[in-house]
Amino acid sequence: MLSDIEKRKIKYFGDSLGGLNVIENRKDIPFDVKRVFYIYGTDKNVIRGLHANKNSEFVMISLVGSCYVDVIDPNENKKKILLDNPNEYLYIPKMLWKNMYGFSQDSVLLVLSDSYYDENEYIRDFEDYKSEYGDKI
Ligand code: TYD
Repeated sequence: MLSDIEKRKIKYFGDSLGGLNVIENRKDIPFDVKRVFYIYGTDKNVIRGLHANKNSEFVMISLVGSCYVDVIDPNENKKKILLDNPNEYLYIPKMLWKNMYGFSQDSVLLVLSDSYYDENEYIRDFEDYKSEYGDKI
């Protein structure tokens, strides 16, 4: 549900030595991590994502810099989130459309997922997404 989309705090153990943040499976995020990827060097004019996932859930963390994430449901309701703090994460359940854009030059966006990559569970056409999930969310 779009109403659940909000930034949450990551456990922080920063001290005089520097920052240290911790995420443990199912304690700090709602799933076991099977996949990690990170996005960087993306021009500020580029829009990434442009898909929904039938099965996978994600956690996004802006480790460095900033970017925006639009999370859109099949009824075209939208939540725009600015990720600009390594102490916060955004949890995105399955079946929601995601666009990432406005990357700062130094942006490093870390993404954790509960699933291995499977192109077959990606929906990359918004009209297909609306017709498949319009009555399910
Ligand atoms: P894509 O999902 O289109 O990236 P974005 O939505 O951020 O623009 O993926 C780009 C390419 O990388 C595509 O060929 C699939 C591949 N890829 C994997 O093989 N495994 C992965 O976990 C991801 C995220 C992408």
